[in-house]
Amino acid sequence: MIGGRATGPLSERKATCRAGSNIAFIKYWGVAGDFEDLNIPLNNSISMTLADAHTTTTVAWDDSGCLQEDTVAIDGVELVGPSAERTVAHLDRLRAIAGVSYRARVVSNNNFPMASGIASSASGFAALTVAGAAALGLHLDATRLSAVARQGSGSASRSLFGGFVEWERGWGGESEAKRGESESNSLLDSRSVARQLHSEDHWALRDVIAIVSTGAKRVSSSSGHRLAATSPLNAARTGCVGAWLETVRRAIAERDLCLLGPILELDALAMHGVMMTSTPSLLYWQPGTLEVLQAVRTWREDEGVPVYFTIDAGPNVHLICEAEAAAEVERRVGALPAVGRVLTSGPGTGPELLDGHLI
Ligand code: PMV
Repeated sequence: MIGGRATGPLSERKATCRAGSNIAFIKYWGVAGDFEDLNIPLNNSISMTLADAHTTTTVAWDDSGCLQEDTVAIDGVELVGPSAERTVAHLDRLRAIAGVSYRARVVSNNNFPMASGIASSASGFAALTVAGAAALGLHLDATRLSAVARQGSGSASRSLFGGFVEWERGWGGESEAKRGESESNSLLDSRSVARQLHSEDHWALRDVIAIVSTGAKRVSSSSGHRLAATSPLNAARTGCVGAWLETVRRAIAERDLCLLGPILELDALAMHGVMMTSTPSLLYWQPGTLEVLQAVRTWREDEGVPVYFTIDAGPNVHLICEAEAAAEVERRVGALPAVGRVLTSGPGTGPELLDGHLI
């Protein structure tokens, strides 16, 4: 019961949470049309929660009524207008669950550069959900918190758990009428939530992240999900994902990188195929992206280096290998002209409430 720990005296209504980001092995790309606002995905996804890429967030609810509006600061920058809206909408969800109207101050810090291609929305919305709920004294288990986090950012549902995690699609094939039956409870509806497959100790995998560009992306993943259905390749990808999920579950259970790796690359390329062929077309790759992909294939095929790639909604490349190969992979990728910086993380725990606060 993450939300039940260390809420402090109720009058304070302040809590701080640290949550890890995650890297998906089978991707979440596309939301079900009838449920866009709830982030119900087209397919299940599987990820590894990251130990060394995390967000720490303090939420302080003002029950005195003095605060007129929510304030949000990320990495020392106060967000104004539309950039704060997504956070405020998430605070609205927590207010609705608790039945209160308090405004909040939110301060959040990432330990990685936000434009690095590590999903800050996953760790950010997981930390916001856990801290915000704890500070309101809401006693929600990790499954319910996963359902709430999902509505802020789909991939955040997976960051509610440590280690290796699967997010179940849940609501995919149901109609609007069916949804209506549970409308009143949809904020806490736990049909589309993540669950832990294995803990962080199960397999010492590494995500070696090759940063080829730090520019902000033109189209956010939250807008991109709404375009997936316009791609002629989307149905082909979602038709294959069931079999790929099975292989990935087995590969993780058996700690078999040779089984995991080809599917990892296949789904990353399939997702980018969908992105590139949607209307409008999303082309997240930069020349450096392709340089890294070609290098990974050459190292593996010509020299036997056990490493595979995956890519999220951006140009940076995540190189997945076992701990023993990580130093060699870091050295090789860091020497590529296109790569500006390399960050490495292993599997991490689920969110933790902290005693110290940022405000
Ligand atoms: O949670 P979002 O809306 O930022 O979507 C994340 C999408 C990908 O990172 C591209 C894939 C994934 O499953 O994490």
